Amino acid sequence: MKKLNSLAVLALSLLSLNVSAQSAADRFVDQLLSKMTVEEKIAQLNHPVIDAEADLETIRMQLRNSQIGSFCVTRSGQLTAELRNELQRIAVEESRLGIPVFFAFDVIHGYETIFPIPLAMAASWDEGLLREASHYAAMEAKSNGIDMGYAPMVDVSRDARWGRISESSGEDVLLNSRMGVAVVQGFQGEDLSAPTSIISCVKHFVGYGASMGGRDKQFTEISDRSLHEIYLPPFKACVDAGARAVMTAFNDISGVPASANPYTLTDILREQWHFDGVTISDWDAVIELINHGVVADEEQAAHSAFQAGVDLEMRSKSYEKYLKTLIDGKEVPKSALDEAVRRVLRLKYDMGLFENPYARVVPVDEDAVRSCARKAAAESMVLLKNNGILPLDDFQGKLSVQGPYAVNRDLFGWWTGNGDFDTAVPVYDGLVANAPDGIRIELGTNARQPADIVLVCVGESGGMFGETNSVSDISLSASQVALIREAKQTGKSVVTVIFNGRPLALEEIMPYSDAILMAWHPGHETGNALADVLFGKVSPSGKLPVTLPRRPGHIPMFYSDRTSGRPQENYYKYEDTTPLFPFGYGLSYSDFEYSALSLSDTVVEPGATFTVNLTVENTGEYPAKEIVQLYVKDLVASVTRPRKQLIDFRKLQIDPGEKKTITFDIDTDQFALYRAGEWILEPGRFEIMAGPDSEHTLSTEIIVKP
Ligand code: GLC
Repeated sequence: MKKLNSLAVLALSLLSLNVSAQSAADRFVDQLLSKMTVEEKIAQLNHPVIDAEADLETIRMQLRNSQIGSFCVTRSGQLTAELRNELQRIAVEESRLGIPVFFAFDVIHGYETIFPIPLAMAASWDEGLLREASHYAAMEAKSNGIDMGYAPMVDVSRDARWGRISESSGEDVLLNSRMGVAVVQGFQGEDLSAPTSIISCVKHFVGYGASMGGRDKQFTEISDRSLHEIYLPPFKACVDAGARAVMTAFNDISGVPASANPYTLTDILREQWHFDGVTISDWDAVIELINHGVVADEEQAAHSAFQAGVDLEMRSKSYEKYLKTLIDGKEVPKSALDEAVRRVLRLKYDMGLFENPYARVVPVDEDAVRSCARKAAAESMVLLKNNGILPLDDFQGKLSVQGPYAVNRDLFGWWTGNGDFDTAVPVYDGLVANAPDGIRIELGTNARQPADIVLVCVGESGGMFGETNSVSDISLSASQVALIREAKQTGKSVVTVIFNGRPLALEEIMPYSDAILMAWHPGHETGNALADVLFGKVSPSGKLPVTLPRRPGHIPMFYSDRTSGRPQENYYKYEDTTPLFPFGYGLSYSDFEYSALSLSDTVVEPGATFTVNLTVENTGEYPAKEIVQLYVKDLVASVTRPRKQLIDFRKLQIDPGEKKTITFDIDTDQFALYRAGEWILEPGRFEIMAGPDSEHTLSTEIIVKP
């Protein structure tokens, strides 16, 4: 333990000298940096993988030789707190300087307890709930030896064919920003060194969601305006919220790979945003610059990525192999190496790793975590259709549960954390456990004693979306459509529940479904949450974070597309080319009436703030939550603008007969557009719209004076 003491004592003694925490940290890092060899510095940028194939003996030797700075751990790596501490002890007690390492993992929507996938949590529009869920995930991960979560993924995603849309918060800039910040806050809390905090690594910087044709890791065409108005803002929101790591993406950005892009990684991220955390390449993204055709070999890949601003190299070894050569050859300045290593050491210092390098098990109230997961799953479900069959709160009789997701536990999405499928609550189990008196739950069909209501559970497996799982057809499979149709042909009421990771084209099942509930992949508490919604304990409040097109051929389709010279001609011949369900749409068991939209001012100075007021009344019979959405449209601008853009939203509980007045504080700077390298607020008329979704809105106007 002597080396830890020497480093720990150094860290603590600097603090005790009544120097400011900032200068104590800087002095600690500078003193440590001054003792390091070039090889030891380069090692801090080495981020290898612990997976099923990892050779732990080699890793132990490399730690002893100060050749590793941190680890990317995968599920198959089966990291435990014990293994982490065993490896950490070698780094701290047996290497020359005793610099601790950190361990990163894909904590995407839970660690041991799996929450709904990110796209589902986005459908809850509930930042507080996501923050709470992320905090629980951080607690579980930290106790298991994880120091960093590779999340949130804030890639604005507008192509339903792309499998990784499931990891995002959907098609909207603001929703990705706000939900991303909730994850950063839930992970990092108020104290990075707390035994309940992990570092947030925001990904994938930047523009991954624009992969051409929704095919994973395809090239992108992103204008500078779209880069600044659509793809960058969620990352800036997360950096401004204090995220201490950013992962660089696989894709190119209009020809310049994101993992070798000085414009985004240095000009924007470092110089404009003043990000002082670490950048980590995605898996092999550095040497994949060769495949991009922008470098000839790994040495050039190391040079290009490092010079652009990639600090840590995940999995590939080009830094380890060539950075010293590049420094000796004066192609990479030593000062640049020192800057990158300084950021890594500072992160480790702020994480408290020098004082507490070992995993500390913090008791987690697993009942509280499961309760949060159950609430999150219920709040993320979106009721798309209901002819009045739901809720089943006064139903008496037999409910038949059918379809491939009736008992399936494959409900954790593509990223499954460290979750144990065996402890998940599938649909049938949840319904049986929570059925009110008088409702009998039956699995499958019974021709002799047919059920009164049929619940058909369909969708896509976790392996049908996520990374490298893009598809050209987002329809439900023919067999699943047939299942729903046959259920309807029995003459019974049919409730269709869909377990999906991406927007699906559902036009075919509309005639056969009396109700349709989009449940996404809800995680551990699927069955209990579904019971809460179906039996009326919870009124569904989820709203779509993505547009649902009628047909796969209508993709890409998203609400904030730009105006055109002939909008009436933007259709496919012979087809209804409107969305089947628009962004922001979702039904409740109750009904809400919107009225009295008003502005504090109708003419304002540029840069002024104003308030938007409106009233929402629960005119139905159920207590319920409503997500009130506020949109803006720039009616005349120097460039074509989105038909509308979400600028704020509020989720609130309203009881039957209750009226609530909502006030939004809006800053006209939110109306700015990006042109010629800067944000510009152009004067003129702006339409302000408020409503329950992106299509059904009240409208008024405001003028921003020149
Ligand atoms: C993957 C993903 C990234 C993930 C990383 C580590 O390829 O692109 O999201 O965090 O590798 O697993």
